[in-house]
Amino acid sequence: MPSIPSGLRGATITGWGTALPPKVLTNHDLEHMFATSHDWIVERTGIHERHVGGTTAGLSIESGRKALDMSGVDPATIDALVLATTTPDRTVPGTAPGVAAALGLRCGAFDINAACSGFVYGLVQAHGMIAMGARNVLCIGTDSLARITDWTDRNTAILFADGSGAAVLQHTAGPGQLLGWDLDADGSAERFLYAEVGGFIQMEGKEVFRQAVRLMVDSAKKSLVHAGITIDDISLVVPHQANIRIIQAACDRLGVPMDRTALVLQHTGNTSAASIPLALCDALDAGRVAEGDLVLLVGFGAGMTAASAVLRWGPIPATRGHQL
Ligand code: ACO
Repeated sequence: MPSIPSGLRGATITGWGTALPPKVLTNHDLEHMFATSHDWIVERTGIHERHVGGTTAGLSIESGRKALDMSGVDPATIDALVLATTTPDRTVPGTAPGVAAALGLRCGAFDINAACSGFVYGLVQAHGMIAMGARNVLCIGTDSLARITDWTDRNTAILFADGSGAAVLQHTAGPGQLLGWDLDADGSAERFLYAEVGGFIQMEGKEVFRQAVRLMVDSAKKSLVHAGITIDDISLVVPHQANIRIIQAACDRLGVPMDRTALVLQHTGNTSAASIPLALCDALDAGRVAEGDLVLLVGFGAGMTAASAVLRWGPIPATRGHQL
């Protein structure tokens, strides 16, 4: 992918929000559902608990409303809603139009499915629309994976969960926050992670692990090159929250210490398209990002897809508060 041409209209994130269903399923709860243990799950994945329940629309409306409120933008100036999800509530229509209606938006609204890479795909799409004249775009990543998880299958049920994260992108006078990006998909690897229509997620965990580390590192390196920076310039890495060992292996290969990484998977599990925005919002709410900081978002998912983006953070709204 080439670098971003100069002179395009830029965008910056001015509001964000999250949503997690109230029901919490701990590892100890799972011990009563199939043969596993809290210690095994923590050692192999880093996950302690996860939230399950709700619908993709319901979670999206909650996170989207928080992001709109924080940004303070007039809903009439939102020109598009991009909803990244791999678990739409229905096959037809897409989930995004109903979410837009519930939020009082009248604009283009559509779903994109790039699995766990979806939010970064959506963010790149949003920047593209703003470069082409859109004023403001609401980008949401939501998944309700509990509905497509076999809760008797210990290979997958320890990992997946539900949640949502949203960001409002506003056009800016200057070049904006996106410095470099990369999107990738290798359909020849789709057999390692998939769910048929009406079926449960099927996964070859070891192979997904191997592919994930390679895909994340390759994509991150491309975005860094496109942004004209090195990993040492990055203040915070926001990786897809799939497995702490995948994140550790990718960070080792990239040469970035774990204390410069945003992590929420211990409390959220793998929420697919919601995972990166949940971790990003948590870091923002905790004050881990200052104006001018460089942030690297990097994810991988079923497809197999991968996506990354380097953002230079804009002004932090004073109304920030802890949401997770
Ligand atoms: N509890 C207890 N024991 C278990 C469990 C469990 N939940 N699952 C497997 N085991 C056992 C196995 O039977 C095996 O026993 P054996 O040695 O007697 O045969 C042993 O533990 C090791 O099993 P492995 O499958 O080799 O375990 P591994 O270390 O590979 O960890 C895991 C499994 C956690 C699934 C890992 O492979 C992984 O995280 N892979 C990536 C998955 C992922 O990220 N998926 C999401 C992608 S993003 C998206 O698009 C949604």
